[in-house]
Amino acid sequence: MYKASAIVLREHGSPEKLKLDTINVNNPNQGEIFISQTAIGVHFHDIYVRTGLYKTLKLPGIPGVEAVGKIEQIGKGEKEFKEGDRIAYITSDYGAYASHRVLNRNLAIKIPENISDELIATNFSRALTVKMLLEEVTNINSNKIILVTAASGGVGRLLCQWASFLNITVLGLVSNKEKVELARSYGCKHAFLYDDKNFLDHINDITNGKGVDVVYDSVGLDTFDLSMESLKFCGHLVNFGQSSGPVKPLTMSSLSKKSLTITRPIIFHYIRNTQKYRTMSNSVFEYMKNYSFKIPKAKCYNLEKASKAHEVLESRTGGGCIYLEP
Ligand SMILES: NC(=O)c1ccc[n+]([C@@H]2O[C@H](COP(=O)([O-])OP(=O)(O)OC[C@H]3O[C@@H](n4cnc5c(N)ncnc54)[C@H](OP(=O)(O)O)[C@@H]3O)[C@@H](O)[C@H]2O)c1
Repeated sequence: MYKASAIVLREHGSPEKLKLDTINVNNPNQGEIFISQTAIGVHFHDIYVRTGLYKTLKLPGIPGVEAVGKIEQIGKGEKEFKEGDRIAYITSDYGAYASHRVLNRNLAIKIPENISDELIATNFSRALTVKMLLEEVTNINSNKIILVTAASGGVGRLLCQWASFLNITVLGLVSNKEKVELARSYGCKHAFLYDDKNFLDHINDITNGKGVDVVYDSVGLDTFDLSMESLKFCGHLVNFGQSSGPVKPLTMSSLSKKSLTITRPIIFHYIRNTQKYRTMSNSVFEYMKNYSFKIPKAKCYNLEKASKAHEVLESRTGGGCIYLEP
């Protein structure tokens, strides 16, 4: 048994509900590893969990879905991992906001030497999400035109860059003029403001009146209608987030107007198979090594300041690259 520090959420609500506590961590059983964590990612998902929009964490519980750590102890019979290995993981079972934890060994992915803890803690799940969006949910090629909402946000900027590396024409939507420039620097051929009254005219001009092939929308409520209107006949909408709130219920007739298709993918469903999870992760590491993604400098907060980290993330001012250090 080990005494660790962790953020324990006892009731849903404001950031102050994230309180530091001392917890007992057991020794690892067979199929488990015990890790000391070095960097813990802070994401919008954690905010939904804290506020109760997602009731997926049983309370009291330790939030957090992604971290980097060092293996301190391995469970009986473990052959692949050893003490001292540096690993990353993402998990839908939570528990990442802690100094130490026991983890199912199937969730651990060894990190190549030249990739930093900070980069992985803030961008591993995002990059896996982009891999899922571009190569699993859709399979698009360089002839296509796509629209990305929140093009300068955490997933958005990786998605725009990854797609532009594949020579896909990327259009972006953002909230202010500064972010228009940022979105361009992330590979958007054109970037527009959400409140641009002529937005659909611009889309028509760029696509010769057809509309875009695919929209990747993570903003949800505020952009859903615009996303649908931007699509060409037989176009595809991927709604993978709801930063502005959940999308309203949808009628089938809204799809039949243009024979549209729609998906609502969740990364955890695409990595349920361990082999698949590993293959996708290694592909993400390859991309990180071979292409220099532009990513804002990460902000680091001590674990006990998790509430501050949430405030910064929610304010939309922090560049969205935030991690906690135990
Ligand atoms: N489906 C999945 O498996 C999966 C995986 C990872 C992430 N996600 C989801 O994808 C979304 C984006 O994640 P992220 O890590 O990229 O987050 P992020 O870095 O915080 O970016 C969110 C972006 O959303 C935009 N936004 C527009 N309206 C907003 C509003 N009302 N409140 C807050 N933000 C608003 C902001 O850009 P502007 O200021 O330019 O508008 C912001 O940059 C989240 O909803 C997250 O849960 C889903």
